[in-house]
Amino acid sequence: MSLSSRLKQLHSNAGDQQTADSAASAAPVKEAAPEAFNESKPEVRPEPAPAPEAPPAEPGLQKNVPDKRFTELVPIQDRLQKDVAAELARRKTEITEDSLKTLISEILNEYEDSILTRQNKHWLTQAVYNEITGLGPLEELIRDPSVSEIMVNGYNTVFVERKGKLMRSDVRFQDDDHVRRVLDRIVSPLGRHIDDSNPMVDARLKDGSRVNAIIPPLALNGSTITIRKFSSTPLQVTDLIRFGSLNESMAGFLKAAVEGKLNILVSGGTGSGKTTLLNVLSAFIPADERIVTIEDAAELRLMQDHVVSLESRPANLEGTGAITIRDLVRNALRMRPDRIVVGEVRGGETLDMLQAMNTGHDGSMTTAHANTPRDAVSRVETMVMMSGMELPVKAIRQQISGAFDLIVQQARLRDGSRKITSITEVLGMEGEVITLQEIYRFVVDGFDASHKIYGHYEATGVRPYCLEKIQLNGVTFDDSIFF
Ligand SMILES: Nc1ncnc2c1ncn2[C@@H]1O[C@H](COP(=O)(O)OP(=O)(O)OP(=O)(O)O)[C@@H](O)[C@H]1O
Ligand SMILES: [Mg+2]
Repeated sequence: MSLSSRLKQLHSNAGDQQTADSAASAAPVKEAAPEAFNESKPEVRPEPAPAPEAPPAEPGLQKNVPDKRFTELVPIQDRLQKDVAAELARRKTEITEDSLKTLISEILNEYEDSILTRQNKHWLTQAVYNEITGLGPLEELIRDPSVSEIMVNGYNTVFVERKGKLMRSDVRFQDDDHVRRVLDRIVSPLGRHIDDSNPMVDARLKDGSRVNAIIPPLALNGSTITIRKFSSTPLQVTDLIRFGSLNESMAGFLKAAVEGKLNILVSGGTGSGKTTLLNVLSAFIPADERIVTIEDAAELRLMQDHVVSLESRPANLEGTGAITIRDLVRNALRMRPDRIVVGEVRGGETLDMLQAMNTGHDGSMTTAHANTPRDAVSRVETMVMMSGMELPVKAIRQQISGAFDLIVQQARLRDGSRKITSITEVLGMEGEVITLQEIYRFVVDGFDASHKIYGHYEATGVRPYCLEKIQLNGVTFDDSIFF
């Protein structure tokens, strides 16, 4: 959306349609290049020094504005927005985003009010600027690289995740309508909208961040937005080793497992790092293989040349036209894939995925929500039942044990760290039961003074059966690490 139409939207909401319309049409604001926009940021954002032992400081400008003052500043912000719009209407020339900021502070400097301290002026300029050019109060958090997830639980409660830890942020919206306006700005460029008949939406920001929104009456706290930020540089295996999410030996084994075409299920709780790990594992796929990736919202970023990425599609407003993960898995089988990588299995597509793995598409990978490898197996079983095929349980289990070779369990631990807690191989069936064998595990040794978990990884000492398949597929691997 252009800045001029943004202004229009802003002021139609502030009840001043006429001024806004003329502002938007008379003085279109030229959008600055995104780089220039970002470069202008650091000079206006002082970084408060965090107190020792205090929770990490919030770099957002709202940081030091206490509640009462925030309430007092909101009417000034409204007035300032209107005055800026009126001034833009008066000027006939285009202005860039940089000069917009100057214009805002010039207008603000003419106001006389004892509340307008330097700090509050700074906050107001930034707030109006963010409102006009971006996603309002969310902008600070979106641009803050230390924030990995943003959770708006109603207009005055915003949580963020930093370094794996959830913390409350001082950022807030004026009221629920304000959240809804920002939400509209997120979803409308995608041709979507959120309203009573469509109260839940999945969307993506321009930078690829994944957004989910749900509004009242379904969300009792008020409009609720969850943003999983897209990191500009995806984590690599070396990062995960550095973070202590796995060790070198496990990384070597997983690399051999992928090159040796094992079928892998990454299992983990919500937000535990499944997609990140799937991306890291996919990076081990040799460059000469054709990879088809299938996701609800494309998050995987593979570096190989020969990648075909498919994305599912929700139904349109008439409730038709949905293309599911299952449709895409079936279609992928006709695309001559060497590997199929499915972002996450949640339902009937699991059966198609198992069948693909059992019929020559070795080396395929997916993720599922489960807390242990054993749970993952039951979960897959339940999901196969959702396919609508009336298969006896034993047959389903046979399919599962024939399809998956490895389950890699990912977890977000209590201290916020994310780790591979187990690498388990799927051996086969014993009677009615799928047999699993753990190869690596994470052992908790204790907690340090700051409640950080410390522990170590250990190989369980068994020689994995899957090494044979790895070797049959032409990958040599030194198995002495297991003893
Ligand atoms: N090993 C790791 N160490 C530190 N941070 C990680 C690690 N793995 C993932 N993360 C971060 O954790 C967040 C969640 O990761 P990811 O999206 O991979 O989780 P997920 O399990 O796929 O989540 P969901 O269930 O919502 O799909 C991201 O911000 C990601 O950068
Ligand atoms: Mg995920």
